[in-house]
Amino acid sequence: MQQTLVIVKPDGVQRALVGKILARFEERGLKITALKMVQVSRELAEKHYAVHQGKFFYDGLVSYISASPVVAMVLEGHEAIGVVRAMVGATRPWEATAGTIRGDYAMMGLRNLIHASDAPETATSEIALWFPEGVMAYTREIDRWVNE
Ligand code: PPS
Repeated sequence: MQQTLVIVKPDGVQRALVGKILARFEERGLKITALKMVQVSRELAEKHYAVHQGKFFYDGLVSYISASPVVAMVLEGHEAIGVVRAMVGATRPWEATAGTIRGDYAMMGLRNLIHASDAPETATSEIALWFPEGVMAYTREIDRWVNE
């Protein structure tokens, strides 16, 4: 089982897409092990995007994610990191395939609705950064039964 961090960014919250986005993940079979609404501080935004420091879009990225509340969550499932990234779609919304979240709900610019961890090491550090209080550790017995 893998865990991954997903953030519905300010445009997703303001456009009232949180429910639809969450439903896609749940219907796919991913489990929510942590979920909260956050007004992102500049400090948290800078830490989250530290790897992009120095890039021309860094300041805009930090301002964007801290502009208004986001919904952060941890999703768990088999190969969850890759599965979630595939469901999210390409970074540039106009390049995202129909059927992906960005491909269905975004069109222009870099207001691309959602962030998802891109690798196991990133997922571990991002989950620790966003959920220092920890996440639920649970296994649904039903999963074992369904997947047997
Ligand atoms: S990179 O350079 O390949 O590592 O960048 P990438 O993985 O494509 O994107 C990293 C995050 O930066 C955002 N991004 C941008 N924002 C604004 N303007 C431009 N030009 C731009 N290019 C990339 C992109 O949406 C990613 O944000 P998250 O929140 O991680 O999806």
